[in-house]
Amino acid sequence: MDHFQFRETGLHAEDVPVHRIAESVGTPTYIYSRATLLEHLKRFQTAFAPLEPTICFAVKSCSNLAILNLLAEAGAGMDIVSGGELRRALTAGTDPGLCVYAGVGKTDEEINYALDSNIGLFNCESAPEFENIARLARARGTRARVALRVNPDVDPKTHRHTTTGVRSTKFGIDIEDAPAFFDRYAGETACDLCGLHAHIGSPIREVEPYVRSTRRLLELADLLGTRGHVITTLDLGGGFAADYETGEAPSARTYADALVPLLEERVSNGLRIVMEPGRSIAANAGVLVARVQYVKIAGDRRFAIIDAGMHTLLRPSHYDAFHFTWPCSPKEQHVPMDRRASLELEGLIKHDVVGPICETGDYIALDRDLPPLERGDLLAVFGSGAYGMSMANRYNSMPLPAEVLVDGDAFHVIRRRETLEDLFSHESASAPTATPTATPTATPTATHGAAEQ
Ligand code: LLP
Repeated sequence: MDHFQFRETGLHAEDVPVHRIAESVGTPTYIYSRATLLEHLKRFQTAFAPLEPTICFAVKSCSNLAILNLLAEAGAGMDIVSGGELRRALTAGTDPGLCVYAGVGKTDEEINYALDSNIGLFNCESAPEFENIARLARARGTRARVALRVNPDVDPKTHRHTTTGVRSTKFGIDIEDAPAFFDRYAGETACDLCGLHAHIGSPIREVEPYVRSTRRLLELADLLGTRGHVITTLDLGGGFAADYETGEAPSARTYADALVPLLEERVSNGLRIVMEPGRSIAANAGVLVARVQYVKIAGDRRFAIIDAGMHTLLRPSHYDAFHFTWPCSPKEQHVPMDRRASLELEGLIKHDVVGPICETGDYIALDRDLPPLERGDLLAVFGSGAYGMSMANRYNSMPLPAEVLVDGDAFHVIRRRETLEDLFSHESASAPTATPTATPTATPTATHGAAEQ
C-alpha cells in the first residue's frame, strides 16, 4: 500500500504531481508520502496491539529528522546503531526511554552518550561490550538496562549481505552461550541484564523464520528463568519485508497472526515486547525521482542514463535488488494500472537504466521493459524510501540529493540538495607543507610527523 498513484496528469505523490516537485526542487530527489509512513506505522501498531509492543523504527532505514519526528509524534521509539543515530532520534524529539541501541562496535564515546541520554535499552552484542558498558556505567554512577543479542541460528532466507541470525555472523552471541553469559554477568550492579534481543536478517519474506526465532528466544527465557534470571524484555528485531515487485510481501497482520499467539500470555504476565521495523514502514513510502540525461545504444543494449545511480540508490547494484521503475508522465497506453503487470504492456522496449558513476556496476534497473525513454523524461524508482537516502554517498563527488515530504496537496523540502561547496566544506583547500624545523629542539607543533623528526 502506498499513496503514489498514476493519474491523467502523471504520477502523483498523494495529491501533488511528481513533475511539479521535480521542476521546483530538481532531480534526483527522494519524495516521501506522510500518509503512507503513518499508515504503515499504524498497521504495525494495530496488528500487534494485543502485545502492546514498543515499536522502535529502525533509524538506519530512513534517517531524515522530519520523518523521525513524524514517527516519534505518532508514538514510535527508535532503533539506533550509532551515536549519530541517537543524536538524530533525540533531535527529532524521540523519548530517550524508547530508544534501543544495537551494533557490534559501540565506542566508549557512544556508550557514554547513550548512558547520559538515559536510553531505554542497550542491545549488547558481546561479552567485552557488556564489560565495557558496565565499566562506563559504574564510572558515571548510573545503571544501564541491557538485553543480550543472541544469534538463534535461524536462516532468514534472504540476501547473504543482510543475513544476521545464522551462526558465524558478527552479530550477537550464539544462543547456546547465553546461559553462561547470564550466569557470569547477571550480578553486575551497574547493569540491569533484563532482556533478550534477536534480529535475524532483512528483508524476511516468510513468517516461519520469525516463529522459529521467537520460539528459541522463549525457550531460552524459560531456561534462564530456571537459573534465576528473569527476562522482562524481548526484542524481536526488524526485517519485515516490503513489497518491491509482486505485492506478495506479507502484511503486518500476517506476521502478527503467527507471533501474537506465541507471546500473548507472556505479555499478560508482564513481558515487554520491542519490535524494530524499518523497511516495512519506509520502503513503499518513498520514491526516487530522476531525470533521463541521455539515451544511447551500445551493441544490443539501449541505455537510459539518468542523474541518479549507485551513489543515490545503492540497492540494485549492491544487493541485485529489484525496484519497479517507470516514467512519471507515460503516454496513455503506458499508464501502469498494476505496477508489476505493466511490464506486459504493448510497445515497451528493453532498457538498462544506469547512472553517471564511472563503474559498470552502476545501475538502477537492467534489461527492463519500459516505454521508449527520451532525454528529459522523469523516472520514478519505487520502493526507495528505506535504505535509499540513508545509504546514499558522494562517490564521484556527487552532491547528495534533496528530500521532500508530501502531505496531501502540499510538499515540503525536508533536506535541501547539497551544493558543490557542501562537498568539501570539511576539507582543507591547500596541501599542508612540512613545517621547516629551525633548530633540532623546535617546539612540537600539531603537525603530526614533523614534530617527531
Ligand atoms: N534491527 C536491527 C538490529 C537491524 O540490524 C536492522 C537492519 C533492523 C532492525 C531493521 O530491519 P528492517 O525492518 O528495516 O528490514 N541495507 C539493506 C538492509 C540492511 C538491514 C540492516 N539491519 C537493504 O537495503 O536491503
